[in-house]
Amino acid sequence: MSAYNLEDRHIITFDKSQEKALYTDDLHVWYGQNEAIKGVDLEFEKNKITALIGPSGCGKSTYLRSLNRMNDGIANTKVTGKIMYKGVDVNQPNVDVYEMRKRIGMVFQRPNPFSKSIYENITFALKRHGEKDKKKLDEIVETSLKQAALWNQVKDSLHKSALALSGGQQQRLCIARAIAMKPDILLLDEPASALDPISTGTVEETLINLKENYTIIIVTHNMQQAARISDYTSFFYLGKAIEYDETRKIFTRPKIQATEDYVSGHFG
Ligand SMILES: Nc1ncnc2c1ncn2[C@@H]1O[C@H](COP(=O)(O)OP(=O)(O)O)[C@@H](O)[C@H]1O
Ligand SMILES: [Mg+2]
Repeated sequence: MSAYNLEDRHIITFDKSQEKALYTDDLHVWYGQNEAIKGVDLEFEKNKITALIGPSGCGKSTYLRSLNRMNDGIANTKVTGKIMYKGVDVNQPNVDVYEMRKRIGMVFQRPNPFSKSIYENITFALKRHGEKDKKKLDEIVETSLKQAALWNQVKDSLHKSALALSGGQQQRLCIARAIAMKPDILLLDEPASALDPISTGTVEETLINLKENYTIIIVTHNMQQAARISDYTSFFYLGKAIEYDETRKIFTRPKIQATEDYVSGHFG
């Protein structure tokens, strides 16, 4: 099926001396009989942006979703291996998934604001978690929107419907909603793929500014985007993380032929 020798798991070597934001150890994901992720070991550096790139169907979204157990609800899905976060394997059944997702937040491909006001989009989950202090909620709304580079545009319309915002603004609202929970790690699955180039640019700038406070893992099929914003890149192919390195190395001198062929546009 593949012209490449993809058995070289040892090619990805990490500096274990440094504490990572998150890592997976021999992660496998099955949808029924279909093994979509075939033993992925990856480590994510704190306060960096790591891009997951690769052709469609190679498992990028599956891998990303497994990191905060978004695959849990899908029937016949099996996930084995470790997902280590602060010394805890979040893939263990006794983990409080709800609590874990406060630390490891997710932004989806299509902006999906609630059909509520801008203000309520950001405060909804906080209120559900018991936060009632109006002043504190106001503060979180302001700081989250500032961090998501949306505050100046919406500060006078916080109580208007989020659905009236443009696509790019809606996606930045979804980022603000995710960071309002004060996560450590932000997972984003092609967050700009539904956006025009200008909105894409603002979302990319937002992410670059956010890495000061968050560890960001982003799936993108857009290689220019990966090159523009990420510090590290992993190339996924047929359910495996084939190569991982600093982004500039992946794009200038990758070690693996499949990576080279992909980044030079020969397939995918
Ligand atoms: N919810 C699902 N149920 C069953 N199979 C799925 C589901 N999501 C993805 N898959 C399969 O898993 C493989 C990897 O898909 P995906 O993770 O979406 O890849 P990518 O994000 O790289 O395009 C594909 O074979 C796809 O058909
Ligand atoms: Mg995908």
